[in-house]
Amino acid sequence: MARVGVVFVCLGNICRSPTAEAVFVDLLEREGLSSHFDVDSAGTGSWHVGEQADRRARAEARARGLEIGSIARQFTVEDFDQFEHVVVMDRSNFDDVVALARRDEDRAKVRLLRSFDPDAPAGAGVPDPYYEGGFDKVFDVCAAGARGLLRELRERHGL
Ligand code: 4NP
Repeated sequence: MARVGVVFVCLGNICRSPTAEAVFVDLLEREGLSSHFDVDSAGTGSWHVGEQADRRARAEARARGLEIGSIARQFTVEDFDQFEHVVVMDRSNFDDVVALARRDEDRAKVRLLRSFDPDAPAGAGVPDPYYEGGFDKVFDVCAAGARGLLRELRERHGL
């Protein structure tokens, strides 16, 4: 069976989307589902391309028992061909990604991470911690979204 492609997207690809990616990959490993998924992350901006994730995001993840190993890259239109699900962190990422969409099929792939969290308010985004901090909260919010995402994808793809 074809693998289910999931790409997490934020602005810089050094704080939120690498955190969401690491949490989601960990959930897949715990549930024995890794071989069914192809998971990545990207940023809409290019400032941090080639860099490791922010050390504050890595420290928070490490405190929770996870290693973030991602290297930042920029989201490109080809990601719509590579990934079936494009999971964005906030409304601004949503607008930036949708602006690159070529057709309705691309647009239909884009969802807010927190829209998968049944306890999140409608339209809620993952707060950007780069200037304000709050990496612990960001981790928890990403984890709740990732759990909801996996629940929905298991159902949708019969896994
Ligand atoms: P991220 O956080 O989108 O969660 O990776 C940011 C990282 C860098 C910047 C903004 C947000 N920046 O302005 O460089």
